[in-house]
Amino acid sequence: MRQGIIAIDGPAASGKSSTARAVAEALGFGHLDSGALYRAITHVALDEAARAGVENPLALPLDAVLRSAEDRGLMLQPDGAGFACYLDGAPADAELRTAAVTSHVSAVSAVPVVREWVNAKLRELARAGVGVVVDGRDIGTVVFPDADLKVFLTATPEARARRRLEQRGAVVDPGELALEAERLALRDRADASRAVAPLRRAHDAVEVDTTSLSFSGQVERIVIAARRALAD
Ligand code: CDP
Repeated sequence: MRQGIIAIDGPAASGKSSTARAVAEALGFGHLDSGALYRAITHVALDEAARAGVENPLALPLDAVLRSAEDRGLMLQPDGAGFACYLDGAPADAELRTAAVTSHVSAVSAVPVVREWVNAKLRELARAGVGVVVDGRDIGTVVFPDADLKVFLTATPEARARRRLEQRGAVVDPGELALEAERLALRDRADASRAVAPLRRAHDAVEVDTTSLSFSGQVERIVIAARRALAD
């Protein structure tokens, strides 16, 4: 099997990142989580907004926010078997998943200069010649249109809301499920309707509906397709 690029796109909480990580591990590839970069930029933008005393991070010039992100060392860096999102010299995780970051990330990531910055970093990392599994919203359509395999992961809104609540260790009752499904739908609408690189399935992507698949089942399906696509 040769090295290559596997693109996994899909809506919020469809399981892209955890699936991509497991697929990368099975193939011996690196995993690039593009959403983590968008979240980290949003985190930096919120810090800058707080410092400037403004509520909306979009009120700030985003090229200055990107410079601040660079100064703080924002990058996906090799870490163990994969790549971790580094900020301020350490792997960032919890700070990328706060409610504030989640509610602002779609707006920040709709700004072209932000997308150009992220795309340049992803392409630079993939150029290193190692195999990569990259997950996001526009990986198969814009970032790597020549990817060796493109997957579009979906699941019903209820399944996605349930997974997100379970992931957060929150109570899974009908009220919370309805609220979370609404939050996810809001973000999907924003991601799918933006002018630049909207969330959509690439015409040559394989669609995998994970609603009634087990995690290992969905990983296996993608690993088999990837091995086939990358067979020498
Ligand atoms: O919550 P979830 O894991 O599904 O999302 P994420 O992959 O962490 O991405 C967070 C947000 O970043 C998305 O809602 C998009 O607004 C943005 N994003 C994007 O615009 N393009 C990508 N390739 C990846 C993420």
